[in-house]
Amino acid sequence: MFIKERRDEIVVILFEQGKVEVNELAKRFSTSRETIRSDLNYLNGLGLLERCYGGAVLKKRSLINNLSSEIENILNSIKYKKSKIKDNSMSGYVCIIGSFNVDIVCSVPRFPNPGETLIANRTHFGPGGKGANQALAASKALAQVHFVAKIGKDKFSEFAYNHLTSSLVDGFTLYQSDTLPTGNAVIYVSEENGENMIAIDRGANMALTESEINQAYHHIDLSNVLLVQLESNLDAILQSVKYASANKKRVILNPAPYSEDIEQIIPYVNIITPNKTEAEFISGMKITDIKSAKLAADKISMKGPEVVIITLGSEGALVKNNNSFTLIPAFPALAVDTTGAGDAFNGAFSAALANGDSLLDACRYASAFASLAVEREGASNMPTHEQVLARLSTHALSNYN
Ligand code: ATP
Ligand code: RIB
Repeated sequence: MFIKERRDEIVVILFEQGKVEVNELAKRFSTSRETIRSDLNYLNGLGLLERCYGGAVLKKRSLINNLSSEIENILNSIKYKKSKIKDNSMSGYVCIIGSFNVDIVCSVPRFPNPGETLIANRTHFGPGGKGANQALAASKALAQVHFVAKIGKDKFSEFAYNHLTSSLVDGFTLYQSDTLPTGNAVIYVSEENGENMIAIDRGANMALTESEINQAYHHIDLSNVLLVQLESNLDAILQSVKYASANKKRVILNPAPYSEDIEQIIPYVNIITPNKTEAEFISGMKITDIKSAKLAADKISMKGPEVVIITLGSEGALVKNNNSFTLIPAFPALAVDTTGAGDAFNGAFSAALANGDSLLDACRYASAFASLAVEREGASNMPTHEQVLARLSTHALSNYN
């Protein structure tokens, strides 16, 4: 066996098992332990694994400057060898391909009028981006998560890496753009009611490449659910949903922020989760009450998705599954910051679904989760699973059709 062939094979085993042992590999390839150690050291140098006592583990959290052609070749060869990998799907695995932003949040007594300067009561920087927020929510809702995003090479990249490293997100891959900055969002939060106004500069989030998405295929293969939003470039989102759909994975699209790109993506989507504004854009209909929300959901489902969930803030979430409608009421909450309510809902919903909940149970779980998230400041400030269970048990909710 050639060295390259053996090293490729080791990477396949590593992706399959998450770890490898020197003794086992030496036996398998009928070679010396020194040879295997040198293979592992070489792959360590490429950033694919970390050495541990007696072997190596798959590097699950990586900051990648440039995908070297060597890694790319190995990953391509894995793609072709996939038939050799046994079905490794496990319950509760969510792959999220999306954005990371730095949020610059200003607490204001009310929203400023055009041309007006207001005194903000407080400003803070925090981690955000719909992808990263949803990855954190799904992780806190106890799914295994792999998150893929792209950031810049600026002072915010370390912030992004440190945030994800210290978070509960199980695994992530952060690529770095040489030219574009880390995405950011300027957010006003009104102290009147916790509502927000947001402007985002998507920066490096718009530069995910084909080979970077190819690299995520392995994580999609392991997942029950692929969750995407619209804060990354269309090519990358399209490539991921096409792959997931072709491989019979459940594809959830949170179409936020709204973009006409959705028309190309929607044919590959099983579940779509617009908020009221997005649902109005997609359906071309005004939503003023539950009746008009149902009509909008009908229009959206004609575009393909089996399930349409329109989130309606404190009014709850309207679920259309085939021809039946259910309104999942919002849980009572003392909202201080509704930024990221949709992210909390989507992350928790995907996790619950991947963990085996029925559609409606997953929506109830997500609704309880999001009601706790709006009681906290910061878009990425998510509750724990235990807090969600407590809220679910203290409020018996009734559904009406
Ligand atoms: P954002 O853009 O601010 O992240 P969104 O507009 O995408 O949020 P919403 O429809 O406002 O999402 O909210 C998502 C879900 O969060 C709702 O369906 C509901 O379950 C929950 N939620 C939102 N606001 C409240 C609230 N004030 N009280 C309780 N639950 C809420
Ligand atoms: O949904 C909230 C998120 O939207 C914020 O964290 C901000 O970064 C924007 O992407």
